[in-house]
Amino acid sequence: MVETTDIFHSNIFRGKTAFVTGGGSGICLGMATALARHGASVSIAGRTQSKLDSARALIMANVPNAKVAVFALDVRNPQLLESAMKETNERFGSIDFVVCGAAGNFLCPAEKLSLNAFKTVIDIDLVGTFNTCKAALPYLKVSKGLIINVTATLQYKGTPVEHLLSIMMVHACAAKAGVDALTRVLALEWGQYGIRVNGIAPGPIDDTQGMSNLMPELMRENFKRAIPLERFGHVKDIEFTTVYLCSEAAKLVTGTIEVVDGGEWLAGPMS
Ligand code: HXC
Repeated sequence: MVETTDIFHSNIFRGKTAFVTGGGSGICLGMATALARHGASVSIAGRTQSKLDSARALIMANVPNAKVAVFALDVRNPQLLESAMKETNERFGSIDFVVCGAAGNFLCPAEKLSLNAFKTVIDIDLVGTFNTCKAALPYLKVSKGLIINVTATLQYKGTPVEHLLSIMMVHACAAKAGVDALTRVLALEWGQYGIRVNGIAPGPIDDTQGMSNLMPELMRENFKRAIPLERFGHVKDIEFTTVYLCSEAAKLVTGTIEVVDGGEWLAGPMS
């Protein structure tokens, strides 16, 4: 597989700015790095300052001239998002791309899930995505920019009871179904401002916290065999889709959810 997103021109995002929540690690750090690699200034937001500091160092190591700002905040707090967006706009001159990636998740059967646990994941994943989109709106109106909501595929159909993975994520499945709906409705409402709103739905992506927390080791090989393209995803796969969606090539693409999963969710009972 191609190791970088260099099949796209190196400076296609020069002069642009990305604001990425959940950018302190994993998939969203990859998305932020890819946008920086192609010339964008990036602000990354997350809850943990030490993770953000490491993320900034990693981006700078990969992209030596990158302009990177970090904001320790919780997406459940709209005021903090508003001030981080304001500072980003003042510092870098615009906000063109917004990636809503902050997400909380854990395995727990619905029967044992407390109301607060359910609400916590809805608040981080769904309400946090709404808060981020809303705080970005004034800047995106000016830039005629783009939102990418990071969603998932497990909410599409659920899974048979004997498979442990999805039955223990009613909270995240409900939240991500809401994120999908939010994506489509905002695409309709904000199209008049020239703003595009899309989702990326990663399938199982190797080497991420989500994967190690959520997929029991014993299930890995069976799961992989059931994927039509016969491999788990890599963060790089999501980076390619991100760069494509942010590029001129996707100028007419809005209201879509780009599924990046090797065909996994379509394939049957293990998805
Ligand atoms: C059951 C749990 C729990 C667990 C927390 N809670 N962890 N319940 N099993 N493992 C409950 C708590 O007991 C509490 O309820 C409530 O949730 C809130 O917990 P807090 O710790 O106070 O909340 P907070 O610190 O705000 O956040 C908790 C968290 C967060 C959501 C678990 O720490 C987190 O996000 N961790 C994992 C991050 C992660 O893996 N991200 C990758 C996501 S991948 P009570 O009733 O006791 O008060 C992804 C893929 C999507 O999202 C695919 C799926 C569709």
